[in-house]
Amino acid sequence: MLSGDVHYVSSYGTMEIREAICNKVQRKNSIKAKTEHCIFVTTKFSVYASLLSISETPFDALIPNPGYFYSDPVILAGANPIYYNLADDFSLDLDEIRRKTTEKTKVIIINSPSNPVGKVFEKNELQSLYDYCREKQIYIISDEAYEDLVYEKKHFSIGSLEPSPDFVISIFSLSKSYAMTGWRAGYVVAGPKIISPVNKFLEHTVSCFPPFIEKASAYALNNCDSNILEFKKAYKERRDFISEKLEEIPSLTSNPIEGAFYAFPKYSSDVNSINLSKSLLQKENVAVLPGISFGPSGEHHVRLSFSGSLEDIDEGMKRIKNFFTGI
Ligand SMILES: Cc1ncc(COP(=O)(O)O)c(C=O)c1O
Repeated sequence: MLSGDVHYVSSYGTMEIREAICNKVQRKNSIKAKTEHCIFVTTKFSVYASLLSISETPFDALIPNPGYFYSDPVILAGANPIYYNLADDFSLDLDEIRRKTTEKTKVIIINSPSNPVGKVFEKNELQSLYDYCREKQIYIISDEAYEDLVYEKKHFSIGSLEPSPDFVISIFSLSKSYAMTGWRAGYVVAGPKIISPVNKFLEHTVSCFPPFIEKASAYALNNCDSNILEFKKAYKERRDFISEKLEEIPSLTSNPIEGAFYAFPKYSSDVNSINLSKSLLQKENVAVLPGISFGPSGEHHVRLSFSGSLEDIDEGMKRIKNFFTGI
């Protein structure tokens, strides 16, 4: 701020941040992008802005079930959210996606690593999805907010399958990779048919994002890969710890947590997930999110975050164990 980065800049973002984005996605995601494919925009806002840019007439958007909160931005953008179920192990079920696709389907949203289910999609699943969407001329919004928190597998960006960004709208965030949630820093990499209307929308709404935040973000993207490795190590330790603790509770069953920092166990009681979460808060003072907030197939699950310290996770899991032993 003291160096004067406090005035209007381009609604695309400064050249410095766009070059940093471009270098980062080429280096880490193997996406063949140029600076004109890159725009600096808060991640959550970018989901909405991308949806607005897809079509002016109403359309269907396929969203994961269970999955992150995509139905509201879809509705706000004037489109219809249509759930597609993930497989039992939370992998992509292409037959289900085919069943849910109609003439009105213009976009499918995917999220790997996933909030809330912790799944990391394999390259071959993403290749099949890409081939299908390409054939049907359907856009893919790929939300990669947790790209750096992948424990055993390797993160694969579906955008890397294109010779130049076209049908894939790749969405990234600095929030989780650099613990910068309050900076509201993220970016989109997409083809000109999307980047141009996203930019128009930004220009006539927020004008631009603060240039001092863009400067700090460029610094992070260019210089801080080693900090990410440190974070990842700490999260892996927490992931291992919470996975062990979950196994000790007989009424909970979980899939392996491959990425992000959430556990999404299924519980065996008939109580719905809203009432169960309220009761857990009242009895044990532990906050979880009810699985139903992530779509109908999230019912009878709860989402636990393990972004806190090992001590807090330990205490929380003792209380959760106590709660489930008592119901
Ligand atoms: C899957 C997913 N996408 C997008 C976001 C939004 O990211 P940001 O806070 O950087 O806007 C989040 C935030 O938790 C998320 O979990």
